[in-house]
Amino acid sequence: MSNPLFDLDTLKAELADHNPRAVLSAALEYFGNNLAVSFSGAEDVAVVHLASRLKPGINVFCLDTGRLHPETYRFIEKVREQFDINLEVLNPSSQELENFVRAKGLFSFYQDGHTECCGIRKVAPLRRKLATVGAWVTGQRRDQNPTRSDLEEVELDTTFSTPEKSLYKFNPMAKWTSAQVWDYIEAYELPYNELHTKGFISIGCEPCTRTVLPNQHERSGRWWWEDATKKECGLHAGNLHESSNGH
Ligand code: ADX
Ligand code: SF4
Repeated sequence: MSNPLFDLDTLKAELADHNPRAVLSAALEYFGNNLAVSFSGAEDVAVVHLASRLKPGINVFCLDTGRLHPETYRFIEKVREQFDINLEVLNPSSQELENFVRAKGLFSFYQDGHTECCGIRKVAPLRRKLATVGAWVTGQRRDQNPTRSDLEEVELDTTFSTPEKSLYKFNPMAKWTSAQVWDYIEAYELPYNELHTKGFISIGCEPCTRTVLPNQHERSGRWWWEDATKKECGLHAGNLHESSNGH
C-alpha cells in the first residue's frame, strides 16, 4: 500500500506543530474532492465550520444511527442550512438492522456491550462511505479519552484501509483542548447542539449517552456501563489497537 502522494512520517512531523486550519489545508491539498469530513452533531461543528470556509461546498457526512436525540437531528439540519456544505446523512442497512433487532431487541447493548449495535448502525455505513474516498476528517481530540492520548494530526486508518487502498485520517483538532474548541464556537458564534445546555458534554446515541456531573470526565457519560479503556465504537477502533500495542 505505498503512497505516491506524500511520505506519511514526514507529513506527521510537519503537521504536529500546526493549527487545525493548516491540517485541514494539507488534507485538501492532497485529497481535494477525494476527502469527506465526518460530523457527529456535537462540538465537532468547529471542524465542519473551518472546512466549509476553506472549501465551500465540502463533502460532510453524518452517520444517522436511528438512535440520536431529537436535539441532535435538529442541530444537524441547522448546520446543513447555515453552512456551505454538501451534507450526506447515512443510514444503516435496513435488512441487517431488522434482523438484529428481531433477534436481540432494541437495548441489547446494555447486556452484551455496544460493539454489535454500533457495528450495524455506525461502522458498516461508515465503511461504505469510506470506500468512496481517499481520506476522511474527524473531530477527535487527545483530551477526549485515554484511548486518544497519542492521537496524531494525520494517520493511516488501519481499520478501514484495504489491501487495495490506503485510507488516511486527518484529526485537525487532535491537540486542541475542549476549552479551545468552545472558545472557537463562541468566537464565531456557531450554532451548537441544545443538549450542551442540558448537562451533556460528549454526545452520541440517546440510549448510550448521559449527562455528567461537574469535573467528571466527558467520556464518563458515554457507554457508562463499560470499561473506559474500551470506549471506542469501531469508528476509531485503531485507537484501541495502537494503545494496546503501546504506540
Ligand atoms: S465515538 O466513536 O465515540 O462515537 P465521538 O463521539 O468521540 O466518537 O466523536 C469523535 C469523532 O468521530 C467526531 O468528531 C466525528 O468525526 C466522528 N463521529 C462520531 N460519531 C459520528 C456520527 N454519528 N457521524 C459522523 N461522524 C461521527
Ligand atoms: Fe447502538 Fe448505542 Fe452504538 Fe448507538 S451508541 S449504535 S445505540 S450501541
